[in-house]
Amino acid sequence: MIARLLLPASSLVLVATAMAQQPDEARSVALFREAGKVLQHPRCLNCHPAGERPTQTDRMTPHMPFVVRGADGHGPAGLPCTTCHRAANYAESGVPGNPKWHLAPTSMAWAGKSLGEICRQIKDPARNGGLDRAKLLDHMAGDPLVGWAWTPGGKRTPAPGTQAEFGATLREWNRTGAFCPPD
Ligand code: HEC
Ligand code: HEC
Repeated sequence: MIARLLLPASSLVLVATAMAQQPDEARSVALFREAGKVLQHPRCLNCHPAGERPTQTDRMTPHMPFVVRGADGHGPAGLPCTTCHRAANYAESGVPGNPKWHLAPTSMAWAGKSLGEICRQIKDPARNGGLDRAKLLDHMAGDPLVGWAWTPGGKRTPAPGTQAEFGATLREWNRTGAFCPPD
């Protein structure tokens, strides 16, 4: 008791702050793991592949017909993605669509990576297309190409939850310190 009273008030505040941060870090990581159910869903991974080709279906098999990313992710000049992928899902042929349909660059590849690796990568402006934290969160919460994953058309499994819930989870992750899973 006496020992505690002898501690300067400022160090008590420091101890209290450190204790308060402990559960916040765990909560932040837990929130990112929740968001990871979307980030690591095939609807996202099929467009964030490691190699030269998009993947497709819930099993993430190589894209058929054969296509490659091309110089800028829009496919080679002779066969751009938009030859087949139109502005909206096309019910008759089952081909998914969105006006911005193209492949994420290899710096933004997520397939085959752990959730911790994906987390550190998307936080890094050198690898995420120069997005600061606010822009990164806005992109996840509001970008229509990201949003396609919840209305994928055909018999595709939508990403879990809603885009709004996904955005809210990530904003709370950011507010609690934006900690990444260690693995
Ligand atoms: C020659 C036509 C054609 C071209 C060109 C084409 N695609 Fe596709 N793509 C398809 C078809 C058809 C499907 C649907 C297969 C199915 O699910 O039945 C598809 C499905 C996909 C899927 C799977 C979605 C999912 O989650 O299952 C992705 C991702 C995709 N394409 C990305 C691309 C990208 C990126 C490009 C350009 C680099 C591209 N495609 C070029 C025909 C094409
Ligand atoms: C049709 C392809 C496609 C789908 C589906 C897709 N993305 Fe992307 N994503 C892209 C492209 C292309 C970029 C590059 C930036 C741009 O041009 O918008 C990108 C960039 C991003 C970025 C920027 C930062 C970074 O490091 O990757 C985030 C975050 C992101 N996507 C999240 C998602 C999430 C979450 C999903 C699923 C819910 C998803 N994307 C589904 C194509 C796609």
